[in-house]
Amino acid sequence: MIILVTGGAGFIGGNFVHYMLKKYDNYRIICLDALTYAGSLETLADVMDNPLFTFIKGDIADRDLVYSLFEREHPDIVVNFAAESHVDRSIEDPGIFLRTNIMGTGVLLDACRKYGIRRFHQVSTDEVYGDLPLDRPDLFFTEETPLHASSPYSSSKAAADLLVLAYYRTYKLPVTISRCSNNYGAYQFPEKLIPLMIANALNDKPLPVYGKGENVRDWLYVEDHCTAVDLIIHKGREGEVYNIGGHNERTNLEVVRTILRELGKPESLIQFVKDRPGHDLRYAIDPAKIQRELGWKPETPFDEGIRKTIKWYLDNRSWWENIISGEYMHYYERMYGNRGMSTA
Ligand code: NAD
Ligand code: TYD
Repeated sequence: MIILVTGGAGFIGGNFVHYMLKKYDNYRIICLDALTYAGSLETLADVMDNPLFTFIKGDIADRDLVYSLFEREHPDIVVNFAAESHVDRSIEDPGIFLRTNIMGTGVLLDACRKYGIRRFHQVSTDEVYGDLPLDRPDLFFTEETPLHASSPYSSSKAAADLLVLAYYRTYKLPVTISRCSNNYGAYQFPEKLIPLMIANALNDKPLPVYGKGENVRDWLYVEDHCTAVDLIIHKGREGEVYNIGGHNERTNLEVVRTILRELGKPESLIQFVKDRPGHDLRYAIDPAKIQRELGWKPETPFDEGIRKTIKWYLDNRSWWENIISGEYMHYYERMYGNRGMSTA
């Protein structure tokens, strides 16, 4: 079995590559990644010498490159993690989100049609459903919830989902889609909430909480996402969408306070800053379908996952310190420099 994993030098794709190489000793894993600001070969350092692993640097929207890769390697399964993934960056500059997330997915689908495939799996997000109100804890996203994306990021992911489903209906391409809630764990780029707050707390820098910190996210430990994708590519029904989530809702303020408590840092580090435009209020997944059909369930409770994650960032300081000392500093200044801060 040959599996093409796109975006494998990023957070979730990198965890998936490690997970698959550990689990299967007869699968070849080929990673195609453009190594954008979010991708790092250090994430894959442990597997670079593995004879079952091949890394190819390249853009999923580069048709010639993708076609020649398919012609040479003939992958059986494609798992598409490659994406521009950060909402705040999409608000700053949407164009690259359209190119990678929509056009790139289109090129991969065309390659699958042209060269044949056993399964194309699109890694999507619960953000395609838009958001839920804060005062209706009884409401959850199901696979039937209409797409109602809010940000340029989530609308580009929703567009890609529609394209994937169109290739199923029109060309009978064997596709599946997963829509997962917010992930956390090792190798997450420090622009995202949890690693950003861990890094700032460790450096005694202010922790910038958007608005009042009341927005709710449904957190899933990244390895639980990997087990779900593994099940879907092997046992999921073609043409189907599967929501992935573990009923683990927390307000942002709760998450930030947990991190400060675990690190023994004071809450005075919390600073409330200007809210994100169009900020989604609450995400909450109903995972009943994947539980019922594929027997998936998450293994890692939040308290355990957050401790493991904090330990990973403590044990791997050079991985994220390299990142925050480079180009990322300019991003941080642009994003947070003029945001106006008030202490908790
Ligand atoms: P990430 O930003 O950490 O990694 C993205 C990877 O894709 C990077 O290695 C980057 O170099 C690569 N990439 C970007 N553009 C590319 C291109 N044009 N061609 C080839 N490679 C390219 O993202 P992530 O958090 O690991 O997310 C992975 C996928 O999971 C995304 O599709 C995202 O929408 C989805 N998702 C993420 C979350 C989450 O909480 N992070 C939750 C649900 C779904
Ligand atoms: P993020 O990690 O960007 O994921 P997403 O927007 O895709 O859910 O943000 C998670 C939540 O944390 C979101 O409600 C925005 C909030 N947030 C902050 O309050 N401060 C920050 O500095 C960041 C990056 C996010």
